[in-house]
Amino acid sequence: MRFFIDTANLEEIRKANDMGVISGVTTNPSLIAKEGRDYAETLKAIAAIVDGPISGEVKATTADAAGMIAEGRAIHALDPAHMVVKIPMTAEGLKAIKALAAEGIPTNCTLIFSANQALLAARAGAAYVSPFLGRLDDISQPGVELVQTIAAMFANYTDLHTQIIAASVRSPIHVTDCALAGADIATVPYKVIEQMTKHPLTDAGIEKFRADYVKVFGE
Ligand code: E4P
Repeated sequence: MRFFIDTANLEEIRKANDMGVISGVTTNPSLIAKEGRDYAETLKAIAAIVDGPISGEVKATTADAAGMIAEGRAIHALDPAHMVVKIPMTAEGLKAIKALAAEGIPTNCTLIFSANQALLAARAGAAYVSPFLGRLDDISQPGVELVQTIAAMFANYTDLHTQIIAASVRSPIHVTDCALAGADIATVPYKVIEQMTKHPLTDAGIEKFRADYVKVFGE
């Protein structure tokens, strides 16, 4: 499983990129709005930091296929080597995914909450599907089971090349669960990446090695 970072905060993106663990970025309108910067400029700045797929979502106000296609072309044009157009899972969204795929523009079908939605998006030609684990957990449905079902379903069809991005990841245990469930990618907030690096026995071990070294060899 690979890692994307799920944020539009440039500082967090730089820090995670410097760690060497991320190979892409996902954003959504809420994440970009939180940063208080221009929408398109933020996406361009992110694409200049990370050399990998950067998901930029069509505006929340665009609901019809024609609008999403036009906006998708514009998002892709911001940085054609990196930009992936994020399209919500609707009937109009599927039309837009098909049209953009025909033009060679990769898409990430977002707001996936059922296995059938993922299969439809894959058949329309989405490069990625994003099942939202955390939001399912929030309504007492086991989100990781959805990732597992989609992975098992896609494995039955060798002509499907759509990758599964486990999204709405909220904790380190979600990450482990997604890897075991067969997600291709987990998109993870910076806070969770930081939490994943930590273990109390690692900290205690570093402190003991330091103390033993200093006792014999000095500072
Ligand atoms: C990423 O593609 C999603 O937009 C994001 O993971 C949603 O996360 P949330 O459910 O924590 O808002």
